[in-house]
Parts: sequence; structure tokens; C-alpha cells
Amino acid sequence: MGARTPLIAGNWKMNLNSEESVNLVKALKEGITGNEGVDILVSPTFVNLAVVKLSIGDSGILLAAQNMHYEKNGAYTGEISSQMLLDVGCTHVILGHSERRSIFKETSEFINHKAKAATEMGLIPIVCIGETIEEREAGNAFAVIKDQLNGSLKNFKDVGKLPASTVLAYEPVWAIGTGKTASPEQAQEIHLFIRQWITDNFNPETASQIRILYGGSVKGDNASELMGKPDIDGALVGGASLTADAFLPIIKFKEN
Ligand code: 13P
Repeated sequence: MGARTPLIAGNWKMNLNSEESVNLVKALKEGITGNEGVDILVSPTFVNLAVVKLSIGDSGILLAAQNMHYEKNGAYTGEISSQMLLDVGCTHVILGHSERRSIFKETSEFINHKAKAATEMGLIPIVCIGETIEEREAGNAFAVIKDQLNGSLKNFKDVGKLPASTVLAYEPVWAIGTGKTASPEQAQEIHLFIRQWITDNFNPETASQIRILYGGSVKGDNASELMGKPDIDGALVGGASLTADAFLPIIKFKEN
């Protein structure tokens, strides 16, 4: 894993009310020592970002939103801007999650605008990519990942610079919420491909610095094997990030 500090990120999706969110952060704070050797991030719903930020206090837990619009403000009913996310204390924003791509029909082009806007405003994007089971079984996994990278990071390619703080998350759609985890070998193969894509489109130094997370049915009992692979730099966790009992063992994967 080299010098890359693992990032363990909890994507709470459309779950947990304000009290449950605050209680979960409280339990995480009680459960961590600060010596886990990982960065920890939580991503509540928009409406709970402010209370979660208060609850995080000075614990060092990072805060991400699950989506944003690329404009700073204006007539975009129902949307949230990067400035608003910064204002409530977010450092990161998840972009292009497969649920946004598939259910809300977000395209890589749209995600690209968001990733550019987030970076320009000082938010770190966590850009998600991943193939469906049909695409994998047709032998197209690598082609799909490459297309999503080319499209979702187009602006960075155009200017020839991808900030080293950018986070990528490989989430095979067939492994999300299904209990089917990609094997550590399957995940490593794609992560290596993504890192090579960064080298080819930017430079080896950027490629060696960027964190590439794995997401899809990560649990306490498979985290350490996944994280043991050289190009897997952390996890984007859905279901198992909703309770401290399930999330803490992932945060503490190095103890296994
Ligand atoms: P699960 O961990 O529930 O499979 O979800 C993964 C995910 O989509 C995280 O963004």
C-alpha cells in the first residue's frame, strides 16, 4: 500500500435520522483510538450533515456529502452546491455513485462537471466507477471502467492535471448490497488497471499518490484481505457502515 493512508469511508445512503446519525458518530468516536492508521469518513444524507459535523467535533472524522450540483448557486430547485457543502463542514463529496448513474441517469459527462466544480471549490471528489454483472460477463469490465474514467475525469485530462488528493472508488455494481464481494484478486486486477490508467493519462507520481477505494459488500471479515492487496487503498462501505458494531471492525482491519 506504500505511503497511501487507507481511507475507510461510510456511505450511509438514504438511511439514519438525525438522532441515529449523531448516536452513530458518538459510538464511532468512543470506539476509535486514533491509532488505527487510517483516515475515517462518514457520508450522511444532506439534511444531517450539519448535526453530524457538530457531533464529529475535533475527532478528525472526515465528512462527505453523497452528491452535489456543479453550479455555485441559482435556479436549480432541489439541488445543493459545493459552497453549501463547504459551509456545513464537508471536505469530500461522493460523485457518480452507481445508484446515481443507474437510478438517476447521471452520465459520466455530468459527473465530470461536478468533479471539476468540486475541485475548483476546494472539495475533494470521491469519483465512483464500476461495471454491471452483464458488462463483466460479456468480458467488458475493463472497457467500461476505462470509458467511465475517460468521461468522468475528462476535464482533468484536458488540463493534464489530476490533484493527488482525488479519491477514486471501484464499486462493481454486482457487489453492492448483494453480499457478493469481488474477490481480492478480482478487485486488485481492476485497481491496478485504474492506477495504470492514471499513469498513462497523467504521470506515475500522481498514480502512486491517488487512493483507490473498493466498495461492494465490504464487512469486518473481508476487509483485511481486500486491504492487503497492493492497489486497494481503503473501502467505501454501505450497509456495514450503518452501525458502529459493523463499521468499527472495518476501521480496525489492521488488527486482523
Ligand atoms: P454495500 O457495502 O452495502 O454493498 O454498499 C456499497 C456502496 O455502494 C458504498 O457506496
